[in-house]
Amino acid sequence: MDKLVVEGGCKLNGNVCVSGAKNACLPILAAVLLTDDECVISNVPDLKDVTTMLKILGALGRRVEREGAVVRVSAGSVTNVTAAYELVSTMRASIAVLGPLVAKYGRAKVSFPGGCVIGPRPIDLHLKGLRALGAEIKVQEGYILAEVKRLKGKRIYLGGHFGSSVLATANTLMAAVLAEGKTIIENAACEPEISDLINFLILMGAEISGNGTPTLKINGVLKLKGAEYSVIPDRVETGTYMIAAAATGGCVFIENAKPEHNAALIDKLLEAGVVVKEHSGGVEVCRGKDRLNAVDITTLTYPGFPTDLQAQMMSLTSVSNGISVITEKIYPERFIHISELNRMGANILLEGATAIIKGVRSLSGAPVMASDLRASAALVIAALVAEGKTEISRIYHLDRGYEHLEEKLSGLGARVKRIDG
Ligand code: EPU
Repeated sequence: MDKLVVEGGCKLNGNVCVSGAKNACLPILAAVLLTDDECVISNVPDLKDVTTMLKILGALGRRVEREGAVVRVSAGSVTNVTAAYELVSTMRASIAVLGPLVAKYGRAKVSFPGGCVIGPRPIDLHLKGLRALGAEIKVQEGYILAEVKRLKGKRIYLGGHFGSSVLATANTLMAAVLAEGKTIIENAACEPEISDLINFLILMGAEISGNGTPTLKINGVLKLKGAEYSVIPDRVETGTYMIAAAATGGCVFIENAKPEHNAALIDKLLEAGVVVKEHSGGVEVCRGKDRLNAVDITTLTYPGFPTDLQAQMMSLTSVSNGISVITEKIYPERFIHISELNRMGANILLEGATAIIKGVRSLSGAPVMASDLRASAALVIAALVAEGKTEISRIYHLDRGYEHLEEKLSGLGARVKRIDG
């Protein structure tokens, strides 16, 4: 298994270009199933999760070609409606094919995605949305079986214990666009990735209003057409480079970034004493002072502070001046990085879903293990800050969500290399 070896103590400086958003691209690729026409999606990042989604489309019978950041799904119909365990079990976002399949073909068989290292990840809201639209759903031998003649529009409240759900909103929305009549989704997720999906669906001929708000109104249509679409830049990748720049004390310009998608992060970085300059073509981040201030963070649904940047901010606050408090309100168990950061000399205590971080002056390199995608990014940031060498194992997690990570970091002056381990 590959390892990442990082020699710490280097300030990141220079320009880095952000890739297309993984979490926008995955449901958009699933939405292609809603039409038999050709679709061309560009700004698609070269990531393992994207490859998995393309394999799923292929296994369903669609012809997929990829050239650089452009994916072409040829005109044609699916030849079967089963998304098998072997693929779905490697990526939860595979569940996004459920809504399109049942809406277009009236049948779907999708493996139950199961739990994951960041805590329980139920799918009750996905099923609630589809059932409300009239789908008969049962779970059998580890598969979700959905069937319906034609879905029927309905008013649906899609909130759960932790608020709105990104992929349940995507699934319900993708089903509703081909349903008969009008659907209203209340408490829809407002994440930019959902807005991107809506823009793509509208281009395909869907009738949706309320984009960017928690109330989506959809007039079902009989048929959607093919479309060409470019995916938005990745706000989590952007945020990760912003935090890395601030943590290492350098000055980095992140090209193509949309700072308006990172407002909550920018607010916290400014509070910490980081200098952030927003430009139309990207965002520039420089460390404003020798030691940054402690900050308190609570993760929330958009536009609140994203859970996908919680771990990276924990690395930054590990070496800030004072005590920071980070509370996780989306995935209360998403703290697996704490023990690894403490191995590197951080002083972090976990109390329920709240981490108390007593800032230390420095971290020291150590062998550590990546556990999930964003926790791995947090370890990379900690390793860049630390004195000495850090060896991060199980970095296949990083390949799921960060395109060309070593190349991008090396371009900013980091001493990073991948070795076969
Ligand atoms: N939830 C339910 N029931 C459901 C679905 C979700 O209770 O049926 C709960 C979850 O357990 C969680 C909360 O609702 O507590 C929010 O989860 P959500 O459904 O919004 O997460 P998701 O759609 O499965 C997406 C991203 C995640 C990101 C979350 C939250 C994709 C492919 N994944 O997941 O990204 O953390 O939204 O913003 O879009 C990542 O990229 O590393 C990642 C994990």
